[in-house]
Amino acid sequence: MGEAPVEQERKSRTFYGRRQGRPLRKQATDLMENLLPSLTLLLELGEEKNSYAPFNPAEQFGNGNPVWLEIGFGGGEHLAYQAEHNPDVNIIGVEPFINGVASLLKHLDANGARNVRIHQADVRQVLPAMTKGSLERVFLLFPDPWHKTRHNKRRLLQVETLDHFARLLKPGGELRMATDDMGYLRWMLERAVPHPAFEWQASGPSDWDRRTPDWPQTRYEEKGVEKGRKPGYLRFLRKA
Ligand SMILES: C[S@@+](CC[C@H](N)C(=O)[O-])C[C@H]1O[C@@H](n2cnc3c(N)ncnc32)[C@H](O)[C@@H]1O
Repeated sequence: MGEAPVEQERKSRTFYGRRQGRPLRKQATDLMENLLPSLTLLLELGEEKNSYAPFNPAEQFGNGNPVWLEIGFGGGEHLAYQAEHNPDVNIIGVEPFINGVASLLKHLDANGARNVRIHQADVRQVLPAMTKGSLERVFLLFPDPWHKTRHNKRRLLQVETLDHFARLLKPGGELRMATDDMGYLRWMLERAVPHPAFEWQASGPSDWDRRTPDWPQTRYEEKGVEKGRKPGYLRFLRKA
């Protein structure tokens, strides 16, 4: 007998994205050498292959401020905006693509925000190592859609990912997700709405088609809108 879909989802862990694109320019290389070291998340390797030792995100910042996590921040404009507009919050960004890390550094260099720690990796290696109840907000914005049915298992949002978010978010904490792929939007809702730890913050049937005012547009989103795609925005609260 075949495995239940949820069990198949729990097992798919191979990384399929890009880690390097065009070579970095001089300014980006300088920022990687001079700014990144002070903003790097300090992690120790774990005992298992491709794992990290357990860590408490708050200890990476040396203050008692809430910690938010942005997964796959791409060009980093959303993360840099949130860091600049929420100076009393600490933000961890995890992104495997080196050009994305360099782009985030450029934004942080420009806006001066330093309440950020960056880790260049597959987030699925990082989530299990974080302390339970250590996050107040998680952003998963426009994750790679993997439209073809046979590639759906590569999607970052799986039931297992939601289980991690449920463990990591404090009660009342928020999970924000967005996508402009209607199939992925349905997929997100099908998994997150019935999840016992989350409550969808939809105040009406068309609630998913607008961002809250504290939610700036990402570059990927902007390019999609220019091509006629329609993004969906989802907010879930971690139940007590
Ligand atoms: C379509 S882009 C969207 C980027 C950004 N969130 C935005 O809206 O502009 C998806 C991003 O997720 C990153 N990504 C893919 N797999 C990931 C993983 N396993 N862990 C963390 N980030 C990942 C990709 O490198 C890419 O930057």
